Amino acid sequence: MVPFLDLTRQYKRIKGEILSATQRVYEKGSFILGEEVSAFENEFSHYCGVRYGVGVGSGTDALYLALKAAGIGEGDEVVTVANSFVATALAISFTGAKPLFVDIDPKTYTMDPDHLERFLKRRRAKGSSRKIKAVLPVHLYGHPAEMGSIVEIANRYDLIVIEDACQAHGARYGNKGVGSLGTMGCFSFYPTKNLGGYGDGGMVVTNDKNCDRKLRLLRCYGEKKKHQHILKGHNSRLDEIQAALLRVKLRYLDQWNEERRRKAKVYTERLASLGVGCPSEKKGVRHVYHLYTIRTEKRDRLQAFLKKRGIETLIHYPIPIPFQKAYQELRYGRRDLPLTNRWSQKILSLPFFAEIKRHEMEEVVEGIRFFSKDERIG
Ligand SMILES: Cc1ncc(COP(=O)(O)O)c(C=O)c1O
Repeated sequence: MVPFLDLTRQYKRIKGEILSATQRVYEKGSFILGEEVSAFENEFSHYCGVRYGVGVGSGTDALYLALKAAGIGEGDEVVTVANSFVATALAISFTGAKPLFVDIDPKTYTMDPDHLERFLKRRRAKGSSRKIKAVLPVHLYGHPAEMGSIVEIANRYDLIVIEDACQAHGARYGNKGVGSLGTMGCFSFYPTKNLGGYGDGGMVVTNDKNCDRKLRLLRCYGEKKKHQHILKGHNSRLDEIQAALLRVKLRYLDQWNEERRRKAKVYTERLASLGVGCPSEKKGVRHVYHLYTIRTEKRDRLQAFLKKRGIETLIHYPIPIPFQKAYQELRYGRRDLPLTNRWSQKILSLPFFAEIKRHEMEEVVEGIRFFSKDERIG
């Protein structure tokens, strides 16, 4: 049996530190917006290379509250990608705005700046670009989107950029951390992430003082001072227990990401000759391999074959967001996003995490080798 992910192995590495960090919280008796959250906000925003961090209830809330802090709401439109977790688009919808989708780069699976530019140009030529207020690229699987071009295009069209960095803690674009490249960067601390808590959690990071101030109001009932509510805010806060243990884990994040990078290299070296498309890293970026996702024409057959050998795989994501029932009103067709559509039928995420063992990776490689041989003969 090769598990897709086994979180217990990471816990065993840092058990003592986790238990003493969480015990500190129980003994203090302060569970919401206390010292641990403040300290983690400082440490994580500093890690990302920005001034402010606002801990919230989840990655979805980080995106939603960031969009709200940017003033996005009813009647607005936000451009994003269809090859992402549905939460990227849901966060846009929650504000009352409409998500619009552009196609992806075939190598990195992230927003293609040329498609973005062509899309915006077309909308401007038709006189229908006024409602578009923001661009929301996703650093999918841990690979940064092409932020230099995306930010440049967004600036020309006077659009705000909000990064969905929920899968990319510690990834870098040039010498900058993801989350620091747009006006706001949004992270999830869902347990399976490269930096994951033991429950839900998220954070928005920013250099913009005004956004920071608004986010602090939005996450906590719009409360400026005790009993003074200056806007209709939410209840969406990172809690003290999560913050305390995430502070421990943050100290290991670079080490764990390096382990992921080394192991990704091993997979790629072993798989490249077997006729599957392996992930690549664009020059000048640091990929943190939240997922190791291959491409193959025979995806469904390969997945079934590996399953029979006890190897767990997943698909991220089999149905592009606008083709989900929840978004049928947008009336996107497969031809609107040809690459996203094609890739969604070929991608397969292999078992992958910092603690995966060499022999487990070998079993995966051997499984794929047998499958390729079988397919050639059959
Ligand atoms: C790309 C992306 N965006 C948003 C989210 C939402 O984060 P959360 O599950 O913490 O709400 C996730 C994670 O699940 C994600 O992978």
